[in-house]
This record gives sequence, structure tokens and C-alpha cells, in this order.
Amino acid sequence: MYSAISKSAPLLARGPSFSTTSMASISRITVIGGGQMGSGIAQVAATHKHEVTLVDVSQEALDRGKAYMAKSLKRVAKKKHAEDEAAQSQFVAEIMSRVSLSTKPQEAVSRADLVIEAIVENLKVKQDLFAQLSKAAPQQAILASNTSSLPIGKIAELLDSQRKQRFIGLHFFNPVPQMKLVEVVRTKEADQEVVDSAVAWVKAIGKAPAVCKDTPGFIVNRLLLPYMMEAIRLLERDVASAQDIDTAMKLGAGYPMGPFELCDYVGLDTIKFIVDGWHKDGEGLKGNPLFASSTKLDELVKQGRLGVKSGKGFYDY
Ligand code: CAA
Ligand code: NAD
Repeated sequence: MYSAISKSAPLLARGPSFSTTSMASISRITVIGGGQMGSGIAQVAATHKHEVTLVDVSQEALDRGKAYMAKSLKRVAKKKHAEDEAAQSQFVAEIMSRVSLSTKPQEAVSRADLVIEAIVENLKVKQDLFAQLSKAAPQQAILASNTSSLPIGKIAELLDSQRKQRFIGLHFFNPVPQMKLVEVVRTKEADQEVVDSAVAWVKAIGKAPAVCKDTPGFIVNRLLLPYMMEAIRLLERDVASAQDIDTAMKLGAGYPMGPFELCDYVGLDTIKFIVDGWHKDGEGLKGNPLFASSTKLDELVKQGRLGVKSGKGFYDY
């Protein structure tokens, strides 16, 4: 039955109660994938005094991730120490000194308390990665995926039951340093103690957790992706230009970004992976016309116009 929730209730006191079970044991974090999301997660964890190892497939990718972090930290530093350039540099250097870079995933997880995966949105690639990591990570480590759309239970499918009990979703939002929310996704197999520890850790890094079940899109993307895809279809039907649709949603609905700015920001390849996956075999979403392929989106991805990260998408950057 629906029960009203007081608007004045503090955010974290609503809904199921969150135990603040020990997260003291989470201090060493390994983030796999140093792209937009992984570098942001590494940055936030290092800012909150964690020792972080960031892993990617090549030194070039790691250098890119490091550059994302440095750029974002400089922004934060400029606000924190407005008139003091030396203090700004010290702030950035101090946080960056807690981040190590690695191209060897097994070595990088061997001492981790928490492993967060933020690699390409592909089920097979994620499953293979975790099968490899589970051979090297400490048995007590919490393993987590930052997937936007894939079932957490399926990503953990190749792991043994002990690992599955310590496997959850930790879904951050882009840009990670700025967006407050982290969805903590609970699978059927996950231990409550692991969920509680993750919730406590999310709070400890200054974010707000929302716990939810392992269903396609969790909370935010289940609502956001239909909106983005409907905007693309408005454009395909030539109802209005991308600029006018963006202006309409910013000024008419109060969104910080229009849907095309947001698509470019998230990455058009990621959006395509999400909708194609759901349309093909998303639990309860298979065949749903909301997620049918879009000629416009397919064309842009084929041309390598992936959005802000590639310099071109719906817009040029
Ligand atoms: N690092 C550090 N700080 C950042 C930052 C970054 N990468 N990006 C923005 N900021 C900070 C700025 O420093 C600024 O801080 P102050 O207000 O303290 O000065 C603040 O964010 C606002 O930034 P700007 O003034 O430069 O620009 P803006 O007002 O246009 O805000 C934005 C930028 C925060 C990105 C805003 O446009 C926004 O909220 N957009 C919507 C983002 C969104 O919906 N993200 C979710 C995407 S979906 C997802 O992530 C899930 C998925 O699985 C696909
Ligand atoms: P991205 O393309 O910016 O970065 C992915 C990184 O992973 C790249 O640097 C790539 O080299 C690396 N990588 C790929 N395979 C790897 C492997 N086997 N081992 C180590 N590194 C590997 O992508 P992103 O936007 O950061 O997205 C990463 C994940 O986060 C995806 O699952 C995505 O769905 C999810 N996500 C994205 C957003 C968003 O707005 N972009 C938001 C929330 C969650």
C-alpha cells in the first residue's frame, strides 16, 4: 500500500534503514577501466584518503585517465583555494599521490578490499574480467560493477557462490566528482553485510546511496534511457532540431542538460550498448519498441561520433 513520505524527512532516513556496519575495512580500492567513469571513481576515492589502483589495457589509456583526473581535480582545487595557486597544486598532487596506475589486473586486485569495474559495457568482456580477477582478489574483497544496464547477477555468473555473496552493483553517475548518487544494486545472492558495508562506504566518500534490486536500468537509467531514446526519435521524425529539443527541455522542464547534450556526455556507444542489450534480451524489456535500434544513433556510432569523449557526437566539441 502506498504510504506518504514526509518531504522534510532527511534523504538517507527514508525507505529501508541503512545499517552503518563496518566499512573501516575498506581502504584499498582497485578500479578497473580508466575512462570517464573509472577515472572519476578513482578520483573520488583518492580524495577521501583511499589508496587507489587504476587499471586499464594500455599505458596510453591510463595516461588519458590520469589526465581526466588531473583536469577535474584542478577544477575542484580552484574553488577550494581560489586565490592560492601553490595550495591548488598541492591539493591536486596530494590526491594524485594516492593513485597508482597498472596494466596488470590480477596484480592490482591482489590486496584490494573493494574492486570496482568500469570497463566497456559488454557482458562477455565483464564476465571474463571477473573470472580472471576472482583468481587473484582476496576472498574477503567486495567485487562491484559500475554497469549501466547489465544484470549484476549475470556479470557474476561464472564466479563461485562465495564470490557471488560478495558481488554487487555500485552505479556511479557522470560526472562522478559532481553527481551525488550511487545506486547500490543488491543481487539475490549478495550478503546483507556486503550491501551494508557498501552503503556505508558510499556515504564515507561523500555520496548518497540508493539501494535497489538487480533489474534492468536499476532506477535512474530505467527512467532516463526511454527519455533519451524518445528525444532521438523526435529528431528522426524531424519534429525539431537537436538544439531546439535541448533548449525546450532545459528551459521548459528545468533539466541541467538537454537530451542530446546528455547523450553526448554519457557516450553514444554506451547508449547503443544499453538499448541494444535490453531490446535483445533485457528481462521484461525484450522487444520493447522504446529500445528498438535507431538509425540515427547507429549511424553516429558507426562514424565514431561517440560524443564528448571522441570530440563529436550530436554536436561537435
Ligand atoms: N569534475 C569536477 N567538478 C565538476 C565536473 C568534473 N568533471 N563537472 C562539473 N563539475 C562542477 C563544476 O566545477 C561546478 O561546480 P560549482 O557549482 O561548485 O562551481 C558544477 O559542477 C557545475 O559545473 P559547470 O558550472 O561547469 O556546468 P553546469 O552548471 O552546466 O553543470 C553538470 C555541469 C554538473 C554536468 C550539469 O550539466 C549536469 O548535472 N548535467 C546532467 C548530468 C547527468 O544527468 N548525469 C547523469 C548521466 S546518466 C549516468 O551517468 C548513468 C549511466 O549509466 C549512463
Ligand atoms: P569509457 O569508454 O570512457 O572507458 C572505458 C575504459 O575501459 C577505457 O579506458 C578502456 O580502455 C577500458 N577497458 C576496456 N576493456 C578493459 C579491460 N578488459 N580491462 C581494463 N580496462 C578496459 O567508458 P565509461 O563511460 O567510463 O563507461 C564505463 C562503464 O561505466 C560502462 O559499463 C558504462 O556502461 C558505465 N557507466 C557509464 C556512464 C556514462 O555516463 N558514461 C555512467 C554510469 C556508468
